[in-house]
Formats: sequence, C-alpha cells, structure tokens
Amino acid sequence: MTRPGDNQAVPGGKTVLVEFEDKIAWVTMNRPDKRNAISPTLAAEMLAVVDALEIDERCGVLVLTGAGDAFSAGMDLKEYFRETDGLSVEARAKIFRTNAQWQWRRLMAYPKPTIAMVNGWCFGGAFTPLIACDLAVAAEEATFGLSEINWGIIPAGIVTKAVSAAVNQRDALYYIMTGETFDGSRAAQMGLVNEAVPRAELRRRTVKLARTLLEKNPAALRAAKLAYRKVRDMSWDDAEDYLFAKMDQLRLLDPEKGRDKGMSQFLDDKSYRPGLGGYRRDR
Ligand code: ACO
Repeated sequence: MTRPGDNQAVPGGKTVLVEFEDKIAWVTMNRPDKRNAISPTLAAEMLAVVDALEIDERCGVLVLTGAGDAFSAGMDLKEYFRETDGLSVEARAKIFRTNAQWQWRRLMAYPKPTIAMVNGWCFGGAFTPLIACDLAVAAEEATFGLSEINWGIIPAGIVTKAVSAAVNQRDALYYIMTGETFDGSRAAQMGLVNEAVPRAELRRRTVKLARTLLEKNPAALRAAKLAYRKVRDMSWDDAEDYLFAKMDQLRLLDPEKGRDKGMSQFLDDKSYRPGLGGYRRDR
C-alpha cells in the first residue's frame, strides 16, 4: 500500500483518508467515533479528494468506504444540521452545495469507475454517495436505514430521488415510510447494491471487482458509464443520436484504439472471441 511520503502528495484530510494500492484509491470516510457522519468538514474534504483523484494516475478505480463499523451514519445531525440552522441562507446554501457536489454531482459523472464498499451502518444521507457510485458491494452484516421518518423529517437532500433511481417503487416507499432497517443481503436482493458478502470477504471481493474494471479499456469504460447515466433521462430518439455521437467521440479519444484492435483480433488474426473473454489490450 502506498502511503504519504511516496514522492507524490496524497489527498485527504482530518476526516477523509486516501490510500493507494495497485491503482485502487481507497477513499475512507474517517470519523469512526461519530460513525462517519457527514459533517461540513467531511463534505469539503471529500470534494477536494474527489477532484484530486480525477486526474491522479494512482487512481484507476475509486472505492468509497467508511472507517470502523460504519459506512456512514448519514448527515451529521449536530454539525450539518443543528449548527448550521443559525447561519445565513447563503452560508447554509454553500455548505449544502458543497455536499451535493461530492455526493452526487461529481460522483455520478465521475470519469473513473467507482465502487461503494458498504462495511457497516449506512443511513439517510449516506444513500446518496452509495447510489452515485457505479457499483456497490455490501457486507451481509451491514445495516441500512432510511431513518428520517422516525424522527419527523423526510429523506431530503436528494436521497429520495437517489433511492427512486436504484430501487423499485414498492421497496423504496416501504423503507421511506416505515424507516425499518435492513441488512446487506436485503440490499442486494432489491438492487441497492450489486452483491452482499460476509464482512470478512468484503475487501477481497471489492478488490477482485476493482481489478476486473482495471483490466478494461479506460476510455471505453468512461464512455460506457457516462452514457448509461445520460441516456436514462433522454427520449429514445435523443439517446440513439447521443450514443452514436459518443461512440464516434470514443474512437477519437481512445489512445488504445480498442475498436480497431478488437476488430482486427477477431476478423483478421482470429485470436479473439468476444464470447470467450476480452481482446488483448497489449497487442
Ligand atoms: N449525526 C451526528 N452524530 C452521529 C450520527 C449522526 N448521523 N450518528 C452517530 N453519531 C454520533 C453519536 O451521537 C455518538 O456521538 P457521541 O459519542 O459524541 O455521543 C457517536 O456518533 C457514536 O454513536 P452511537 O449511537 O453511540 O453508536 P452506536 O454504534 O451505538 O450506534 C448508529 C450507531 C445505529 C449508527 C447510531 O449512531 C444512529 O442511529 N445514528 C443515527 C443514524 C441516522 O438516523 N442517520 C440519518 C441522519 S439524517 C440524514 O442523513 C438526512
């Protein structure tokens, strides 16, 4: 594992820890004593980290997780809410905007693949970055909850919108309206995460998934995931046009010329069968 001091500065701060390991950037919400509740400080540091990693070659895949027994207990009820109640409208808006920036505006359009690794408690506001990540793996033992209804508020920020993008209507409304908690296996069953594994296996499984992504053509991966996000809200006509344009853009921007290589390996060399694995990027 590469740590601070390895000739290039490592982004992060008091509440966010970044570690690099073979092109995986482990980004850890790091307030274990507060169950990684998201404070204004954590939001600001996270935005700076996400910005920095976007152009950091040590990051091929970003994994978001939490320190200790929590992924994150959601927004910090003291620092994010109570202590900002008395601020001016403008000052509050700035804090909320900073949080929205890292939690979904940046993560949902992130040029590199992202994986949420849900190691434990995951509540309220933590659902937003969870859903904004491309993929998610949870510990079976993790506990999720849209707890807002239990203390008289609604899943705001953009939590309700995020949940509606990831989970079907019956499950979304059930958990929004009852505030009941559920575990990682249930989260996987309803599609909130890709899969759940025993906590002891969580990191190993996440690394395996990250390595699978690292083997792909990065330009194609970037275009594929961004295209998925964009076309969801387009008409079929617009989506078709956009996807053709995106495909042409990829041919221009892909330094590996993956399309040409893949075609040539299949059609000319007959060295590659799409149904039997990936084409050789090094040829
Ligand atoms: N905001 C602020 N502080 C928090 C939060 C939070 N969301 N969650 C935990 N903490 C703090 C606790 O106040 C406590 O601080 P203290 O040591 O200074 O008293 C510390 O973290 C540890 O919390 P405990 O409750 O003692 O930890 P425990 O392991 O017993 O329980 C649990 C963990 C279940 C996550 C519990 O802390 C909890 O229910 N937290 C709130 C979860 C929640 O409803 N989040 C939604 C927030 S609303 C939103 O995100 C929009």
